[in-house]
Amino acid sequence: MKTTVSATINGVAQTFEVEPRTSLADVLREQMRLTATHLGCEHGVCGACTVLIDGQPARSCIALAVTLDGAAITTLEGLADDPLMQTLKASFHDQHGLQCGFCTPGMLMSGWDLLKRKPDIQGQDIRVAMSGNLCRCTGYQGIVRSIEKAAQTAKGQVSQTKGAAA
Ligand code: FES
Ligand code: FES
Repeated sequence: MKTTVSATINGVAQTFEVEPRTSLADVLREQMRLTATHLGCEHGVCGACTVLIDGQPARSCIALAVTLDGAAITTLEGLADDPLMQTLKASFHDQHGLQCGFCTPGMLMSGWDLLKRKPDIQGQDIRVAMSGNLCRCTGYQGIVRSIEKAAQTAKGQVSQTKGAAA
């Protein structure tokens, strides 16, 4: 039996029908055509499907859509105009933070959340904080460097903005 769920997705009110077993990832990809959210393991291990649910990073492959009535969901598409996300994407490009790119949307969502919470994070702490996101290609060196550089760039942007406001 299908259930009607209403949620805000990337700032837009949406209503959709789901089976009790339907994951949020399947709603996003198949009903909303928001295909930046990737599916890797489909059992909560790899982090490729990471989105924000009510502002918190979550695995959309194991979030049952039926439980999300009234929730606010943000995918990578929803952060396209966000300055920190733009900085992070540029850094992944410049620092070779991807090879096949399959893990990249989840890396960007988790990295963005990390930089929001800990803007000064560097080195080994990034490795620990990002350990819930798996990459099969890069050996993580480029990913860690990308997040480090994005943190430094974002900090410079904030201090420039403060300087301009003074
Ligand atoms: S696809 Fe969701 S954690 Fe791997
Ligand atoms: S770049 Fe290929 S899985 Fe991470």
